[in-house]
Amino acid sequence: MRRKIVAGNWKMNGSKDLSEKLVGYVRSESVSLDKGVEVVIIPPAIYIGDVVREAQGNISVGIQNVARWQSGAYTGEVSSEMAKDSGCCFALVGHSERRQLFGETDKMVAEKVSIVVGSGLTAIVCVGETLEERESGRAEVVVAGQVREGLSSVKQGDWQNIVLAYEPVWAIGTGKTATSDDAQAMHAAIRDVLRDMGAPADEIALLYGGSVKADNAADLFSEPDVDGGLIGGASLVAKEFMSICRSLSAGT
Ligand code: PGA
Repeated sequence: MRRKIVAGNWKMNGSKDLSEKLVGYVRSESVSLDKGVEVVIIPPAIYIGDVVREAQGNISVGIQNVARWQSGAYTGEVSSEMAKDSGCCFALVGHSERRQLFGETDKMVAEKVSIVVGSGLTAIVCVGETLEERESGRAEVVVAGQVREGLSSVKQGDWQNIVLAYEPVWAIGTGKTATSDDAQAMHAAIRDVLRDMGAPADEIALLYGGSVKADNAADLFSEPDVDGGLIGGASLVAKEFMSICRSLSAGT
């Protein structure tokens, strides 16, 4: 059975106080979730230690970005090994903000995926088209290219440490969400690409991200190829985030 995951990406938001209060709340409420639903908190790197402490091993923690290198003279960077050492189990790779604001290419994504998986973390690899790409009918081609290139470094046997997040760029932080039909269509297309690459496509969790809220999560998560969500803004509001987590059932 595929993993079922709700991951909260705090982006450059939050504080020590939020790390304690929100994570404490999510930890205590998460006991009532469907068994098999994994909750992941992905705070700014500086708060990873606080979140890990508060999570008490009941919820997982991830890092938003890692360096392309193992270690060395890269001032300001954080390695995947360090994230693991600090208690992370997941690392986001290739978020659209990294691609758009920091020039991350599919080649860099592939390098990071290899490093993340090599250090024993699960990579949540983000893909998604811009509005212009969707409107010109190229969404599937663009996303397929990101999947093929971004995952080109994955070796057979490492696929169990890969999760994909489909996040249409036009839906991130805008309040616009893909319809559940659009999300399902793209997820099915991604699964076809993975199958074509020789990956165990039916075992790889595909998350949807982009303005997921408490009131649209159940609809999106009811689609057969949507295995959970990557949540930005709504993951900063404890009750809303928990309500999204409750919309995911382990059995679908
Ligand atoms: P959003 O962000 O939920 O605020 O749209 C999603 C993301 O960027 O992962």
